[in-house]
Parts: sequence; C-alpha cells; structure tokens
Amino acid sequence: MKNNINIAIVGLGQIGIYLYNELNKKKKGIEAKTGKKIKIVAISAKNKNKKRKFKIDKKIFYLNPLTIFKSKKIDILFESIGQSDGISKKIVETALRNKINVITPNKALIAKHGDYLANLAEKNNVNLEFEASVAGGIPILRTIKEGLATNKINKIYGILNGTTNYILTEMEKTNENFDKVLKKAQLLGYAEPGNPKLDLNGFDAFAKIRILSALSFNTKISKSKCIMEGIQNIKLEDIKIASQLGLRVKLLGISKIIDGHLFETVHPCLVSKNTYIGNVNGVMNAVITEGKPVGESVLQGEGAGPGPTSSSLLSDLLSILRGNVKLPFGISFSKRKTIKPFNNDNYVNSLYLRFEVKDKQGVLSLITNRLAKYKISVKRIIQTPDKKNKKATIVIITHKTTEINAKNCLSIFKKNKNILKFPTLIRLYS
Ligand SMILES: NC(=O)c1ccc[n+]([C@@H]2O[C@H](COP(=O)([O-])OP(=O)(O)OC[C@H]3O[C@@H](n4cnc5c(N)ncnc54)[C@H](OP(=O)(O)O)[C@@H]3O)[C@@H](O)[C@H]2O)c1
Repeated sequence: MKNNINIAIVGLGQIGIYLYNELNKKKKGIEAKTGKKIKIVAISAKNKNKKRKFKIDKKIFYLNPLTIFKSKKIDILFESIGQSDGISKKIVETALRNKINVITPNKALIAKHGDYLANLAEKNNVNLEFEASVAGGIPILRTIKEGLATNKINKIYGILNGTTNYILTEMEKTNENFDKVLKKAQLLGYAEPGNPKLDLNGFDAFAKIRILSALSFNTKISKSKCIMEGIQNIKLEDIKIASQLGLRVKLLGISKIIDGHLFETVHPCLVSKNTYIGNVNGVMNAVITEGKPVGESVLQGEGAGPGPTSSSLLSDLLSILRGNVKLPFGISFSKRKTIKPFNNDNYVNSLYLRFEVKDKQGVLSLITNRLAKYKISVKRIIQTPDKKNKKATIVIITHKTTEINAKNCLSIFKKNKNILKFPTLIRLYS
C-alpha cells in the first residue's frame, strides 16, 4: 500500500462525526504506528448545513456520496450511514468494485448482505472490515479471526445490546418501570430518541449474533427463522420476583452448534446473580466463546457509543494500513459452509411463568393440571394474592421442557376467563 492514504467518510451522525474528529486528532499516532499518512479528502451527509458536534471542512463535503468516486481518488471508505440496503449498500458495493477498502460499523448491512459484499471484496482484492458492527469497542471479531483462529468454536453468546442491558439494570436498581427507564436511556443517549424499537425487540442483537455465528463457525450468514424476542414485555414485577429468587433478567444472544445444526436466538433469560453474565450490568456488553482447545474466553466492554465504536473503526483502519488484504470472514467465501438450522421447537429450557389470575379457588389447580398434562414438572410456585382487586399473581418455575411443548401447553390460556392475561414466559439460562 502506498504511503499517502486518502479517506472518505460517508455519514456524519453520532459515529461518523466522532470518527472524523478522531482521525484528524490521531493522524500523527497513526503515522507512527503504520508509516502511512492519512488525509480525509471527502465527507458526506444528508444535510450540508446541519449543526454538528465537531466543525467540518465544507470544501470536501458531498451531498451525494456516490459522486465522490468520480472526483476523488479514495483508498479507504468509512460507511456510517447505517441502512441495511439503499444508499449504504450501494456505496459499499461501488467502493469495493472500484477496489477501495471499506470499513463499516453497520451491522444491519453486514447481517443482510455480508456474504455478497465479502465475496465482492475478495474478488476485487480489497478489505471489508466491520469490527465495530458487533459489541462496539470490544475487539471480538478480530479475536475470533486472529487470536482464536485455530480453535473449534462450538458456542458464542453474550449481552450484545447496551441499551437493553442498561434498561434492565436500571429497572432493578431504581424500581422504576420500563417506560420511565426508557425515557432516561433516551435522554442519556443510550437509546435512540425517535425509534428505539430495533434495540428493544432484539433485532439489533440478532444481527450481531448472525455475524458472530458466521465468523465462529466458518459458515455463510444464516437466513433461517429463529426465536427473536426483545425486552418490551418484561415488567418491573418480573424483575423484582426474579431478584427475590436470586436471578436477573438479561437479554442474551446465543449461537451454538447442536448435533451439527446451527441454533441462533435472542431472548430475555433469567440468569443467576452469582454468574459472570449476571453481573455484566448497565451499558456493558460481554461476549463469551467456548472453543477447543482454548476453553472459555470472555471479552467485556462498552457495547455502543461513539467512543468505543470509533476505537473499533480505527483498529480496522490500522489493520488495513499495516498491509495485506485480509479475508472479511477469516476464510474465503468459497470455503464457508452453509449449515442446516436446528429445529427451534426442540429448544429446551426451564421456564419462569407468571400468571395473572382471578383470586378464585381452583385456578391454581387448573394451571398445574394443564402443566402436568404436558409433563411439565413444577420446581417452584409462588402465589401472591391481591385481595383488594380479587386478583392473584402465580409464578411457576418449571423443570426443562421443549419450546413446542410449552407453546402447546400454554395455548389454552389465551381464552380462559379466570386467567386475566396470557402468561409471561421467561426462559432460564442454563
Ligand atoms: N450510535 C452508536 O452507538 C453505534 C454503535 C455501533 C454501531 N453503530 C452503527 O453506526 C452506523 C451509524 O450510526 P449513527 O448512530 O452514527 O447514525 P446516525 O446518527 O443516524 O447518522 C447517520 C448519518 O448518515 C447520514 N445520511 C443519511 N442518509 C444519507 C445519504 N443518503 N447520504 C449521505 N449521508 C446520509 C446522516 O446525515 P445527516 O447528519 O445530514 O442527517 C447522518 O450523518 C449504523 O450502522 C449503526 O448501526 C452505531
């Protein structure tokens, strides 16, 4: 690679503008570490006159990022617009076709089009790096591709969304309800002010799990239907009851190989307060890999925000500046396998079930009889009457059962006059 490197940054939002400032600030340090002189020669965003956190050089501003390629010679392009398709895909495709290295924190784009784009990068002999797309500042992708490269990883899991982890932690700490804590998260910049849906419903963590699976198991990015649940239905009540039982609610992303099949999921889990994962709190993320012969490895750090994300973007930059074209997923596109999906119906867990019922005789036995009919044995029952409102809360912790069995068993409670609401189900992590 030549010594003078021209850089373009497309997207100057939370991430892009912070990166712009970091690159300008750290030019000398980057040169000392790589021998390369970097220069930002083009920037692009939707709105030229928008007030931004750091002052930009308007002489290098492009309203249409696709025109950059026509007027400037670019060596490395940062894509930080953030769409899964549209302009984000178009700009990355165009850059790779023009033999320009690409760095992106865009998990939605990589989870959806990562295979196609990686193949394009390989064909054009350039880098496509996306360390910042998973777990912010935690260098998990490079750890899998390099540090753990010769291990056989069977499982990778963890807390992959800082917004939801902050909300769950704060609800437990302050006894405030979901809506109130969400507002606080938005004010602090942990949750998107407009539409935090993709964090809350598990989609964001799921995109990350798909990327992690592909890297860990040397497979193509899976497209199969999976169990994806967020934290929208977790009530303060569940968090309090869990706490009394020595448990905590965590939104976990889990990916593992079961009997040669790929199982990927994101859902809230009850974990023991005595476990490592049970103590990863606030905006922290943690990723745990289980591999042979290395055993268990844990990486923890801040999973979002401009600082941690820029740290990963700059690590990608240094990796490129230090030379050699690396394969985006660690092995070549043609050697990555397609793996059959695990049947989600056979996923096995102990369950936490919370019923809101009429405080009437016979309701508890109605529930336990139904569970018995489906051979779901009960480990623990906690019944809390609310005499004033003639209601009661019944919490049942079950022994292990399959998804399909639980689903069939609980289906009857959709329409029973004594059961006031369909029961809340949270799986226990084991
Ligand atoms: N925020 C985080 O903590 C975080 C952490 C890890 C990864 N990421 C990833 O980083 C990426 C960027 O996130 P962000 O939070 O920085 O998003 P953001 O604040 O919404 O910024 C998006 C930027 O894209 C620009 N843009 C939109 N359409 C454009 C177009 N057609 N042409 C050129 N620019 C366009 C916007 O321009 P205007 O400014 O003019 O509106 C804005 O500057 C996403 O993929 C996200 O998933 C974010």
